[in-house]
Amino acid sequence: METVTALEPKGASVRLRPEIAALPAYRQGRPAPAHGYKLSSNENPFDPLPSVIAAVGEAATHINRYPDASALALRERLAERFGVTTDEVLVGAGSVSLLAQLIAAAAGPGDEVVYSWRSFEAYPGLVTVAGATSVPVRNRADHSHDLDALAAAVTDRTRVAIVCSPNNPTGTIVTAAEFERFMSGVPGDLLVLLDEAYIEFVRDEASIDGRTLIGRYPNLVILRTFSKAYGLAGLRVGYAVGPAPILDAARSTAIPLGVTATASAGAIASLEPDAEAELLARVQVVTERRDRLRAELVDQGWPVPAAHGNFVWLPTGADTVAVADRLFDAGLVTRAFPPEGIRVSVGEEESVETLLRILGELVPVSQEGRPA
Ligand SMILES: Cc1ncc(COP(=O)(O)O)c(C=O)c1O
Repeated sequence: METVTALEPKGASVRLRPEIAALPAYRQGRPAPAHGYKLSSNENPFDPLPSVIAAVGEAATHINRYPDASALALRERLAERFGVTTDEVLVGAGSVSLLAQLIAAAAGPGDEVVYSWRSFEAYPGLVTVAGATSVPVRNRADHSHDLDALAAAVTDRTRVAIVCSPNNPTGTIVTAAEFERFMSGVPGDLLVLLDEAYIEFVRDEASIDGRTLIGRYPNLVILRTFSKAYGLAGLRVGYAVGPAPILDAARSTAIPLGVTATASAGAIASLEPDAEAELLARVQVVTERRDRLRAELVDQGWPVPAAHGNFVWLPTGADTVAVADRLFDAGLVTRAFPPEGIRVSVGEEESVETLLRILGELVPVSQEGRPA
C-alpha cells in the first residue's frame, strides 16, 4: 500500500515557501513482495516490445549529447496523427510535467484552478506549486465528475479547469454531451485541460474523445501519455494537443530538455504500425480483463463503478486501510485513499485471481461497515 505522509517542518535553516513546506511528501509505496504484484500505479503489466527496447538502446549510444530540445521528430509523428501542426503539439517528461507547465502558464497567486475531486492526486500539489488556489468540486454519488457543479464553481478568479476522463482513481468517464455542455457554459478565456491519460482503454461510445474536439475550442488542451496504454511509464513521455499560443506559453514554463532522446525514440518506435498494433492488442487484453474483474466484483457484492481505465475503484470507506493491508499481505500492492477507497490496477492475470479470492472473503466484513 502506498502512503502519503505530511512533511514535518524540521526547522529548516532557509526560509521555504510555507505552502510548499506543508505539501504532503510523495512517498513511493512498498515494493511488491516476492511473488507479489504491484497494482498501485496503473502501469502496463506487459514487458516492453523488443523493437522499442532496440530503439531506446540505439538512442542510448548518443547520450553524451543533449536531446533535441523540442523533440521535433516525435512532435511530427503526433501532429500527423492528430491532423495538426507541430506547433499544436507539446511533449513533456510525462503528461504530469505538461500539467505543471500549463497550470503555471495560466494560474498564479490569487488565481483559482477548479477540478473534480477525488481525482488525480497530483493536481492539488501542482496548483500549489504554481502559487494558485485549488477549488475541488465533489464528484457525484456515482463517483463521476459533476460538470455542471464544476462550471458553477468557475469565478472571475478561475484560470484553469481540469477534467479527467477516465477519472483517476474512480474510473468514470465524462460523456461527450456533458463535456460539450461544460465547454459552452464556461468563459472562452478559461483554459480547460482535458486529461485523457487512460483514453485508450475506453470502450464506451458515449465517452468524450478529445481528438474529436481538436480545432474546435481555442481554450482547450488535451493531454495524453505513453505511460499507460503504450507501456512506457519508465521513459517519461506525454503530450499535449491544443492551440499554439497556449502551448507556447507552456513551453516557457518548462524546465528545458525534459524529454530525453531515449524517451523520444521509445515513443516513436511505439507508434510504428506493427508495434502500435501489438500494443493496442495488449490494451484490449487489459480492457477485457478489467471488465471481467469488475463484473465479478459486482457479483461478489462490491459497488464498483463502471471502470473505463486500466484500474478499478473499490469504495471501501472506513474499511480502506484494513482491506488494503489484507491485500498487501496476500502479495497485492494497491493504492489506498482512506477513508474513501482503494484503486487497484488491472495487472497480470494471476493477480486478478488472487484479488478476487481475497476480496470475495472480505465482502461481508466490508458490507457491515457500510452505512445502509
Ligand atoms: C489522470 C492522470 N493524468 C496524468 C498522469 C501522468 O502520467 P505520466 O506523467 O506518466 O504521463 C497520470 C498518471 O498516473 C494520471 O493518472
